[in-house]
Amino acid sequence: MRKAIALILAGAMTLSLAACGGSSSTTAASTGTAPTAETTTVANKDKPLVWFNRQPSNSTTGELDMAALSFNENTYYVGFDANQGAELQGQMVKEYIETHADTIDRNGDGVIGYVLAIGDIGHNDSIARTRGVRSALGTAVDGANGIVSDPVGVNTDGSATSVQDGTIEVNGKTYTVRELASQEMKNSAGATWDAGTAGNAITTWAASLSDQIDIVVSNNDGMGMAMFNAWSRANSVPTFGYDANADAVAAIAEGYGGTISQHADVQAYLTLRLIRNALDGVDINTGIATADDAGNVLSDDVYYYDEASRSYYALNVAVTGENYQDYLDSTVPYGPVSSQLDAAAHPEKSVWLDIYNAADNFLSATYQPLLQKYDDLLNLKVDYIGGDGQNESNITNRLGNPSQYDAFAINMVKTDNATSYTALLAQ
Ligand code: BGC
Repeated sequence: MRKAIALILAGAMTLSLAACGGSSSTTAASTGTAPTAETTTVANKDKPLVWFNRQPSNSTTGELDMAALSFNENTYYVGFDANQGAELQGQMVKEYIETHADTIDRNGDGVIGYVLAIGDIGHNDSIARTRGVRSALGTAVDGANGIVSDPVGVNTDGSATSVQDGTIEVNGKTYTVRELASQEMKNSAGATWDAGTAGNAITTWAASLSDQIDIVVSNNDGMGMAMFNAWSRANSVPTFGYDANADAVAAIAEGYGGTISQHADVQAYLTLRLIRNALDGVDINTGIATADDAGNVLSDDVYYYDEASRSYYALNVAVTGENYQDYLDSTVPYGPVSSQLDAAAHPEKSVWLDIYNAADNFLSATYQPLLQKYDDLLNLKVDYIGGDGQNESNITNRLGNPSQYDAFAINMVKTDNATSYTALLAQ
């Protein structure tokens, strides 16, 4: 019965696309046979488009690019709640300080010094994490656009103006908390969130700041692990990251302080699921808010949808010494949405998807392996394009023939650049 409704809805969508200038698309649902890419004649501008990981927005002000987010009626963004995650990240570091007060201050000067690896100063996730850490540790200062998220460079004496010294009281003793150093981790070719740059930075910082550094904080695990391996593991300095990449979670057993899971298992599912639903012509929340015909469904404690920004956001979870055993494999599909769809009711469709930087630890070690598992479960044939993390053209050059695909999933190099892609689809 459900299948019959799906078929009717799919047929209705075909008609409505044709009515708005799309053309006479032949879909699996209306013919009962799997379509090949060649038989699909829906205009590229009307095909499902999901932005993920980098939300179309102004990289200076953070303002959302609503033209890109509502490019057509099947356009969405999938990410995670950056503020909720950032708050957890800050709290995790603060709690660690509170519970390790007797050992944390390595040189006993009463100042708990931390260094911070900022990923990409124009990325909303990075900005939120810098703010979350500074707010929790009392080092934040307010600027014209909210809490200042600029890097301080080196701040040995606490005189930097983009942060202030904070205080934390533990067992009746008041410690000063100081952001001793922070910088964007961008390499000379322009790639951001760059692990190699972070590994070099900690070596430089340690040479001058040495045992003033009590904690290392990183806005992702790729950079965090580079710093841990280059310096903090050997010096027993707790290091905190973000993403719950498998190598970072495993390192918690060896002194890595903790990380945050941004529920990549839920995000990767949503990225492909929205495409599946749009192509099937069913309610967009099928298998998300409501169970699909295979029983897949998400509960609202792992994600939410924000209508105004057309964005689905996964919720974050802190991963620390207490629970890391449950997070050791970051590439397992999320249990409640891991059932195979029936290939007759949901025939194969082809999707173009890019990863903005093939060298990004989170995207390559966690997100893409998850996508590759879900594409099988959802009967999608996905072409994965790996970018160089530096130039949009390196990716858009490989979107030469969009007509070959039924849908698109896009991860931009720079959040301001949505039109580099939509221009190709609008032609
Ligand atoms: C992740 C980072 C990653 C970045 C790429 C963020 O959400 O946490 O690890 O480098 O996305 O855009």
